[in-house]
Amino acid sequence: MVHGGTPLRGEIAVAGAKNVALKAFASAILTDEEVVIHNVPLIADVHCMLDVLTSLGIKVDINGHTVRIQSKSLKSTTVPLDVGARLRTSSLVAGPLLARYGAARIPNPGGCRIGARPIDRHIRGLAEMGAEISYHPDDGYFYLRADTLHGAGFEFEKNTHTGTEALILAAVLAEGETVLKNAAAEVEVDDLISLLTGMGATIKRTKEREIVIYGVKKLHGVEYSLMPDRNEEVTFALAAAVTSGDVLVHHSRRAHLGAFLEAFSSAGGQYEAVDASTTRYRQIGPIKPTDIVTLPHPGFMTDWQAPWALYMTQANGISTMHETVFESRFSYVSELRKMGAQIEYYDPPVKNPEIYYNFNWSDRRSGYHQGIRITGPTPLHDAVVEIDDLRAGATVLLAALTAGGTSYIHGVEQIDRGYENIEERLRKLGARIERKKEDEI
Ligand code: EPZ
Repeated sequence: MVHGGTPLRGEIAVAGAKNVALKAFASAILTDEEVVIHNVPLIADVHCMLDVLTSLGIKVDINGHTVRIQSKSLKSTTVPLDVGARLRTSSLVAGPLLARYGAARIPNPGGCRIGARPIDRHIRGLAEMGAEISYHPDDGYFYLRADTLHGAGFEFEKNTHTGTEALILAAVLAEGETVLKNAAAEVEVDDLISLLTGMGATIKRTKEREIVIYGVKKLHGVEYSLMPDRNEEVTFALAAAVTSGDVLVHHSRRAHLGAFLEAFSSAGGQYEAVDASTTRYRQIGPIKPTDIVTLPHPGFMTDWQAPWALYMTQANGISTMHETVFESRFSYVSELRKMGAQIEYYDPPVKNPEIYYNFNWSDRRSGYHQGIRITGPTPLHDAVVEIDDLRAGATVLLAALTAGGTSYIHGVEQIDRGYENIEERLRKLGARIERKKEDEI
């Protein structure tokens, strides 16, 4: 339950990066020695990925924001369907299991409902490295086996963030050299690379979008602290701007946010580098409309698309947002409309879309759109809204904070997937939020 209309003011610290934590856990399977990960965000997706590890018999110990993993107790190479299907990133254990045990069975991944999200690019790469892979639709499992994984030269036909990570996780113990071309540039991949390097792996970005891995015999344990979550930082920056507030963000990494900071300034957003890891965000003057196209890093991230659209509902004029990474990532539009937002779908004209878009064109369904046009400023009013994707969830929460009146948000476990203690942390900025049981509302 959110009582909106209060500008958010104060200080907030960004948690550790969800999209590195999940892969760091998979990395622990690559050694029998203890792997210690610090600055782990205590969010549902983290617990879900740790459930995947424990379902394999791996010892996991959570103590505050530190997770200790001992994979020498591993008993199985099959991820149970109920555990694996809840989180797309569960598929990343395949490479390490193949590299160390020669076999893996993983469910066809689930995760956010933002499109089909297949792992065909992961599978093609693992096969190139010597894995025999079959998919059994009757039980929904991928069956993988490999006596040995060998290095390969592999070019991704399209960008894939976790696909790049899947192949790195397989290549670090493979025989010989692996060269990944058209590899993802997301900064989360770099954090994973430094974690694996700390375990004794030999990996380097040789040139733009190319990563070379020399397989080693063995990897050892490591103690590693995750980078901050840039998606959280963007959420808090926009929370400040859209509520006409003024927020100091700690553990800020401006170097990870180039495209955001550029767009934010063009919209009249103000960011001030207080020090190397602290940034002050506020809105000075009217919000100016913008035209954004989401792209893989270093472009404007698709994860920032939803909160940005909310920001643009308060801009003076017409803004557009063209989502090119996922085929269905506008689930929040219906909820913002309930609160008074003026948002129309449209399909930006694109030459050969099957090449241009990052998703597999065949995954599109009728009624999907890649563009929205937002007319602002529209005062938002309270409403009862529903959430079904974690970034959309944060957006609906920010909308409720921006709107006057009292809004009721259902399905907040989606927000808990990516944001730790969100209502406590926003309350410290003056937000009036209460978490209720469904039957209390
Ligand atoms: C990662 O998803 C992140 N998730 C996403 O964040 C993020 O939005 C995305 O990268 C872009 O940076 C994690 O790191 C856990 P992709 P990922 O592989 O790896 C299609 C969040 O909210 N594709 O780059 O799944 C795919 O369906 C999440 O934290 C294939 O078709 O993204 C998508 O449309 C949401 N086949 C597009 O490509 C494949 O084999 C980009 O996918 C792989 C991907």
